[in-house]
Amino acid sequence: MSTRSNKADTIFTHAGNKPHENFGVVNPPVYHASTILHRTVAEMEAAQKNRFKKGNMSYGRHGTPTTFAVEEAVAEAEGGERAVAFCSGAAACYGAILGFVKSGDHLLMVDTVYGPVRAFCHGFLKRFGVETTFYDPMIGAGIAGLIRDNTRVIYLESPGSITFEVQDVPAIVAAAKARGIATLFDNTWSAPLFFQPLRHGIDISIIAGTKYIVGHSDAMMGFAVGSGSSFLAVRQAAAELGYHAAPDDCYLALRGLRTAGVRMRHQEQQALKLATWLRGRPEVERVLHPALPGHPGHEFWRRDFTGSSGLFSIELKRDTPAAAISAMLDGMELFGMGASWGGYESLILPSHPERMRTATPWTGGPVLRLHAGLEDIGDLIADLEQGFARLAAAR
Ligand SMILES: Cc1ncc(COP(=O)(O)O)c(C=O)c1O
Repeated sequence: MSTRSNKADTIFTHAGNKPHENFGVVNPPVYHASTILHRTVAEMEAAQKNRFKKGNMSYGRHGTPTTFAVEEAVAEAEGGERAVAFCSGAAACYGAILGFVKSGDHLLMVDTVYGPVRAFCHGFLKRFGVETTFYDPMIGAGIAGLIRDNTRVIYLESPGSITFEVQDVPAIVAAAKARGIATLFDNTWSAPLFFQPLRHGIDISIIAGTKYIVGHSDAMMGFAVGSGSSFLAVRQAAAELGYHAAPDDCYLALRGLRTAGVRMRHQEQQALKLATWLRGRPEVERVLHPALPGHPGHEFWRRDFTGSSGLFSIELKRDTPAAAISAMLDGMELFGMGASWGGYESLILPSHPERMRTATPWTGGPVLRLHAGLEDIGDLIADLEQGFARLAAAR
């Protein structure tokens, strides 16, 4: 009897690897390929006809065994039949949406969505005749009231970007299913460990693999995971758009996945320690972290998630001057100022929900987004403490 279970850590360690098809080498080789040669016309025609079949080799853009290995592993981790790898997380978001909409359709988009996806709705989708309505992340079953006859997609991201509201997934899924509408879920904050959207009735789980799966801030990747016709709709869109994931990046993502469990659990603890310390600081109005009681949607996080990642925000006191925030951030030693989180290093970033939100305007104080890395926790707190001293001196 196989001892392979569907437990996350066993999947992260073994899924996608086939060492005995590769001279016993543990990790899959990196295939660099554009042309795939076929011995006969019949073989070539079969390869082209089956180009979306699992493991089929027809052309470099449609994947090689390196691509298939990481796709298989991520699909297993997410509890889906299949995954398609993209060149970035943003490409996965766009490709997944384009798998389901056409001119004249309507899309329901969560107001706390990752900024560039909001821009994609306002720009690309609008130009091609797809209308977007942004909705309150806390809307729950009330989403039914926003559904129109031409609504094709409800897009969720939970916790939401920057402010981390947690959505009531079962309530939204029920409303979507009642009207035959596809649900897409950006699971980047949790993936691959703390939440599996497909197990909660979502059709497509989207992951910026750039974050915790790659885990080392050195490659960009995206994934869309699903089953049956939903998966094929996204697979088809990815092919029509010419999306392709580079072989070296697929390799790095698979290698990152092997250690994602230990990294994420440690970063969870680091973030919780920072959040607790920050909650006691006089400069901080509020800590925006799904695992803290009182946070919007905390009850849904407790019900649906198995943990929390290293990414959260703080809201500073409303009267904090911009120059004082710059004085704090310009002098940070360990916390880097940069956007792409999920690596091993800590980050801090001024963020501006007030520049983005439309359905739920942000009226609070200035927001800093933090990512907890693997540094010593005492050193991280000391870095923040000195930052707050600079902030106070610059007031
Ligand atoms: C929630 C979320 N989704 C998608 C993306 C896009 O990923 P990428 O940077 O790989 O394009 C990001 C990037 O920060 C993100 O935070």
